[in-house]
Amino acid sequence: MKNANDNFMEGVNSDQRHDIICTCSGTTTSQIKKQIDKGIQDLDGISRATGACSGCGACDYEVLAFMAEYISTFSSDSA
Ligand code: FES
Repeated sequence: MKNANDNFMEGVNSDQRHDIICTCSGTTTSQIKKQIDKGIQDLDGISRATGACSGCGACDYEVLAFMAEYISTFSSDSA
């Protein structure tokens, strides 16, 4: 029996699947990078902009860790 996530994933290609950080919303790391690059650097803002962390919450830590790493590595504010 398929669940909602299985149905969602059928429309996603393998490159996108690898990039998905939040399976509830299908949010990818690329989408989060774009929002950070636009200046959103807090979890609530990322959640509102992408839908990440707005379902079960299982990805919260992973999204935060990804954001911290990306911001510390690539953000112009970190210099
Ligand atoms: S996996 Fe992100 S909210 Fe469920």
